[in-house]
Amino acid sequence: MQVSLIVLAAGLGSRMNSDLPKVLHPLAGVPLLDHALAAGQALDPARTVVVTGHGADLVAKAAHAFDEGIVTALQDPPQGTAHAVAVAAPLLSDAEGKAIVLYGDTPFVRPQTLQAMLDAPQDIVFLGFQAANPKGYGRFLTEGDRLLAIVEEKQATPAQKAITLCNSGVVAAEVQTLLRLAAAVPLRENVSEYYLTDIIDLARAEGLSVGFVTCPEAETLGINTRAQLAAAEAAFQAAKRAEMMEEGVTLISPETTFFARDTYIGRDATIGPAVIFGPGVTVETGAEIKGFCHLEGCHISRGATVGPFARLRPGAELAEDVHVGNFVEIKNAVLDEGVKVGHLTYLGDAHVGEFTNIGAGTVTCNYDGVMKHRTTIGKNAFIGSDTMLVAPVTVGDHALTASGSVITQDVPEGALALGRAAQVNKPGLAVRLMDKLRAIKAAKKGQ
Ligand code: UD1
Ligand code: CA
Repeated sequence: MQVSLIVLAAGLGSRMNSDLPKVLHPLAGVPLLDHALAAGQALDPARTVVVTGHGADLVAKAAHAFDEGIVTALQDPPQGTAHAVAVAAPLLSDAEGKAIVLYGDTPFVRPQTLQAMLDAPQDIVFLGFQAANPKGYGRFLTEGDRLLAIVEEKQATPAQKAITLCNSGVVAAEVQTLLRLAAAVPLRENVSEYYLTDIIDLARAEGLSVGFVTCPEAETLGINTRAQLAAAEAAFQAAKRAEMMEEGVTLISPETTFFARDTYIGRDATIGPAVIFGPGVTVETGAEIKGFCHLEGCHISRGATVGPFARLRPGAELAEDVHVGNFVEIKNAVLDEGVKVGHLTYLGDAHVGEFTNIGAGTVTCNYDGVMKHRTTIGKNAFIGSDTMLVAPVTVGDHALTASGSVITQDVPEGALALGRAAQVNKPGLAVRLMDKLRAIKAAKKGQ
């Protein structure tokens, strides 16, 4: 069956007190919006429409960064959740099968829950949850497994306010039925909004069945404030740490390890304390990341060791058994099998061949102030400590650079490159110089 996703993300999110649209605030290293999109994407939707409003251009950009195939509909001005769904209708005029409405600010809905909604027998299916504190949510008025109405907090009677079965906002229905009903919802004059929850009345009047599926409250957690965002981050991290350990990853100090939404770590890898994973990191089985490392957009192969205190930036690609030590930064660089970069080094826009050793203090001088240039180092080479590799430059296989060299020309295979001033020794000069300086200091004191 075809599925279309409609992700509502037009709200201002005024309680964030921010210039940034709410759904672009980061959660687990990626925009809040990505979480709902990823949950929806798991259903393999034929089409995804993101409804934008406040900060529409930025939100659309983020949606396209997540998936180029996503289309956006501008809701200007936002006039309620039914209006938001109706705005998506022209982009779904030829859609078939079912549609699911998700909120961009509700990150933890599980694909299994959405699937259960698609599988439910009723024509319209809302997602509900038992709220510890129902204040602010729409309350479900039910009769058996039928959903009779949803009453918003503002319109609820004291008796209705006591109901704890609440509306998450997620809805599933046959796509054209949903779009038609959403467009037909009457304006609530007193609040000047079109409520998506009002499709229930319209559906029942047509003889359609309306039901609900429930999920744990944690899944429907919506973000309205920065405090809720921080709480959501904590919840995400706690769950991800537990999942990692369950899958055979050793976390030396789990509460100090921070993952991104998409962090992948293989079995029997070990992660030291205070390691931070940005988006796009994969660590293969048996690798070790020692304490205090920061990693993003990189791949670490089997048996590699990294850190402590290393920084791997986007495009860092470490082959098997590579060793990266302390105070090393690697960006957009491929390190072939067995390469060793032990200490105090920057490798950017580079390729290093297998079993090459990079000495302490090596720097690829990749930026001339305007453009970036590449450094290519062959296999089994030895880069002496404190070598400056002024890119573009190539060092051949089995070549050696002398410590302290500034390498500005290519080094042929097997050659020794000496790119530093020759040393001169002046016998006795150190002692004579010191005596002279001490004499000057003594004369000044005597003045
Ligand atoms: C809505 C539900 C309520 C439910 C609650 C769950 C309605 C009428 N009420 O209330 O039953 O318990 O969510 O959190 O549906 N949005 C748009 N365009 C709009 C309005 C909203 O895109 O014109 C988006 C918002 O960005 C947000 C979501 O829809 O992601 C929900 O909007 P919000 O205003 O937070 O709805 P609530 O009043 O909380
Ligand atoms: Ca809300």
